[in-house]
Amino acid sequence: MEDLLKRAYDATDFRNSGHRIIDLLAGQLGQSHEIEGCDAINHKSPERQLDYWKDDFNKPFIESPDTLFKNVINNSVNLHNPGYLAHQVSVPLPLTVLTAAVMSYMNNGMAVYEMGMAGNAIEKIVISHLTSKFGLGDDASGIVTSGGTLGNLTALLAARASVSNVWEDGANDSEKLAIMVSAEAHFSIDRAARIMGLGKNGIIKVPVNEKFQMRTEALEICYQNAVAAGLKIFCIIGCSCSTSTGAFDDLQAIADFAQQHQIWFHIDGAHGAPAIFSDKHKHLLNGADNADSIVLDFHKMMMAPSLSTAVLFKHQRHSAHTFSQEALYLYQDEQEYEWFNSGKYTFECTKPATILHTYAIMRHYGDELYRQNIDCLFGLAREFASLVKNRDGFELASEPQANIVCFRYRCGELTTAINKQVLQQLIAEGKFYIVSTSVKGQFYLRTSIMNPFTTIENLQLLLDKIKELACSLHLNPQLQH
Ligand SMILES: Cc1ncc(COP(=O)(O)O)c(C=O)c1O
Repeated sequence: MEDLLKRAYDATDFRNSGHRIIDLLAGQLGQSHEIEGCDAINHKSPERQLDYWKDDFNKPFIESPDTLFKNVINNSVNLHNPGYLAHQVSVPLPLTVLTAAVMSYMNNGMAVYEMGMAGNAIEKIVISHLTSKFGLGDDASGIVTSGGTLGNLTALLAARASVSNVWEDGANDSEKLAIMVSAEAHFSIDRAARIMGLGKNGIIKVPVNEKFQMRTEALEICYQNAVAAGLKIFCIIGCSCSTSTGAFDDLQAIADFAQQHQIWFHIDGAHGAPAIFSDKHKHLLNGADNADSIVLDFHKMMMAPSLSTAVLFKHQRHSAHTFSQEALYLYQDEQEYEWFNSGKYTFECTKPATILHTYAIMRHYGDELYRQNIDCLFGLAREFASLVKNRDGFELASEPQANIVCFRYRCGELTTAINKQVLQQLIAEGKFYIVSTSVKGQFYLRTSIMNPFTTIENLQLLLDKIKELACSLHLNPQLQH
């Protein structure tokens, strides 16, 4: 019988197929920048997709991975295409494709120092670069975790640990803990609060203004109502920015409120916190230096692949106590603060060294690349918004503050029905991939401009296409009913 293990670990095979895969990806990348060259999405229904892969799985074993990888690519969204304007996921830098390969090869799960010697040191350096960018002070620290959802949960656990002993004693029915957050916050905050046992009554949603920012003048009344209802507010969360429309909350006003009531101030900056790298846009984060914790995703606006998130803390002790637990087979002294054993401070045990992506980006290009990316994408969103406003029939949901633009084509009482159909047809055609959102309860088309190679001409073409589809649908008698 063939020694399969020997073949599976063969260095020559690896080198040869590795070269071919890089050629394949580089070819794709070159083509992707041309919107005419290929589609953003080649949509198949979930059933057809499943059938395709069932069929594939039953075929004879493959000799090389080339065809498999081509098939995966052909059946997936191409984020590198300028027509990709959908979810807030970065268009990863080619450099990070290489760091991903190195990381997978090493597979150093960095919870304990020896399994991530370089990773833990690199993580500490990047975290301290970020805490100083945000002006969090000399006592600041932080960790890298897998995604903003987990990052928000981690920060809220730290917030709770600062006022309650639930971690040790379990839930106490007489202590009704609650958080305050904008009604536009990402659902991961709601989810974290529910995981922590706060229940839906423990999430006080503060209404937003016409720009979808938290109405900070309503904070005091929301707080007093919650206290009167027997709740103990321990944390307020600012959005930088909101997911649906990209609205930045007034962080300074929230910081002042948090200080007045002595509660934890957390910023969900998963998407927008990297605006700190731009002199033009960092004013959106004024007040962030007062935060007790900040979440920032490297895999959104910082061009790293998913998932990689920084959770920054103003005070190191908060990061240290969040997950305090005995795991003596891993750590000799559980109580000691040891930055180099990062598993003590994260939810994860075998934690991938995703920080390598960001470190490699910083070492190659420095903060200037982040500045260019933010300025380019935020600037493009503004230009696109003015195209929308000046185009007959189109309506903008709000002036974009970030790189998220929500709009729709107006067709009287058929507006929602037609925009829904337009979206489906756009995706079916494949040149553009955009999504939808609900703005004040109304259906809107939503674009996140994530690709710095998207041009204003591409966006003009998107509007032309939407108008063309909407007009032809308008004539469709079936839609009239
Ligand atoms: C504001 C905000 N917070 C948190 C998240 C969740 O981040 P992740 O997808 O990295 O878990 C998102 C995702 O879009 C987001 O927009």
